[in-house]
Amino acid sequence: MLLRKSDLKKGNNFQFIIFGGTGDLAHRKLIPAFYNLLDRDLSGEDFSVIGIGRRSENREEYLNSLYSSLEEALSGKVKEDVWDKLKQRVDYIKADFKESRTYEDLKDYLNKIDDKGEGDRIFYLAVAPNFFDLIVDKLDEYDLATSSGKGWRRLVIEKPFGHDLESAKRLNKRITQVFSEENIYRIDHYLGKEMLQSILVIRFANLLFEPIWNNRYIDNVQIISTEPYGVKDRGRYYEKAGALKDMVQNHMFQILSLIAMEPPAQMETKDIRDEKVKILKSLIEGEDGEVDSWAIRGQYGEGEIRGEKVISYRDEDRVDNSSNTDTFAALKVLVDNLRWSGVPFYIKTGKRLPEKVTKVIIEFKSDFHPAFLKGDEPRPNLLVIKVQPEEGVYLQFNAKEPGSDAQIIPVKMDFCQNCQVGLNSPEAYERLIHNVILGDQTLFTRWDEVEYAWRFIDKIADYWNENKGDFPNYRAGSVGPEESKELLEMEGRRWWD
Ligand code: BG6
Repeated sequence: MLLRKSDLKKGNNFQFIIFGGTGDLAHRKLIPAFYNLLDRDLSGEDFSVIGIGRRSENREEYLNSLYSSLEEALSGKVKEDVWDKLKQRVDYIKADFKESRTYEDLKDYLNKIDDKGEGDRIFYLAVAPNFFDLIVDKLDEYDLATSSGKGWRRLVIEKPFGHDLESAKRLNKRITQVFSEENIYRIDHYLGKEMLQSILVIRFANLLFEPIWNNRYIDNVQIISTEPYGVKDRGRYYEKAGALKDMVQNHMFQILSLIAMEPPAQMETKDIRDEKVKILKSLIEGEDGEVDSWAIRGQYGEGEIRGEKVISYRDEDRVDNSSNTDTFAALKVLVDNLRWSGVPFYIKTGKRLPEKVTKVIIEFKSDFHPAFLKGDEPRPNLLVIKVQPEEGVYLQFNAKEPGSDAQIIPVKMDFCQNCQVGLNSPEAYERLIHNVILGDQTLFTRWDEVEYAWRFIDKIADYWNENKGDFPNYRAGSVGPEESKELLEMEGRRWWD
């Protein structure tokens, strides 16, 4: 799970084939990840990256465009010696992945550099989700998914994995006919974030927290991930997804399962995944009755972000002007097991909200000495796990205001991880790619996790499809629809963001 130099030299003779090699993900995330791995001496040197795409005419043009994005990703600080090493290992095939010829060419190409099939291969699908099964079909048809020698073949597949339970099942059936589950890496890039991995350490390496990590001491848990951006140029995809499917089904549920899971028998991939999936199986609605009483949706209208006017969702490029798509979702869900019975988990995510921030707030119960319940009640204790942009964790507790008679004020014990000099967390994709190379699946979602997440999300999505939203219902730059505040206020609670 952690980046370790000692693990590295394993499996370092590999070919990394990117379908969608000229796309945004390859430029912004995958190539910078390889650059960083090389820079940290974590990838070995015996590998090649083969981009398949159509936008660049030839290898030279491809390398130039990768270099420009690298400059952008590293704010102009590209180390020329590292880039020189990387570019020698990057090749380009100008081709359309929808055409059979592409796979013939790829096969010839790979046979030329590795005729005995001894090298390992990673096929990375950085393409629109409707092409996932087509590419897997072709890899199968051209016998690229199995090895004639001793090299392994792995498939890395971006999200979204299906758009509902049925489509996810179909996709899974197809890809598992070609690749075995231990060779399938379903990306949820949030799992590559430093603080998500820290959750298990915070929980299980501190005597302080584990005894009170349950419904006797915890009042509620809040998982919040907001961003000021709109849908940018992804209108076509987002129209079919919306906040619920784009963020909650995957990233937010993964965070929830790490916060709520039981201690795994061992800190091993299977044990951790087994415990996470139990949580996804135990999710239930936050309230009896209609979905509207525990799942709030929103869509942004026009407004202002950091002083700049922005357009409404319905006016975005490739968005229907009467769209029913949610750009905001706030849920109250329960984990129906002994540890969590009765503790609400509130989830909130949305676009065009004031800040880019992801955090988890554990609010403890407010059982104070009666003497402190007169007048202003003290604030509850909070444990806040800051995922981004700041990484760290703080504990809020109460103290006497210095100099006052008995005034109580909340104070913080704060650990800011990325404020520490010299500590530079690896980017999520860097860690994820590294783990694919090592064959560690811990930070990837297993099929049953995807399945149970969809089971739950489908209930909400079906209801939202059948009952149109009253949109737009929040201004860009605001904190979201009023109903999301009410979801907590009705129960005497508040969001802590
Ligand atoms: C992606 C979603 O999975 O995550 C995007 O498709 C969202 O809509 C993004 O903006 C957020 O990721 P991060 O790492 O910037 O928080």
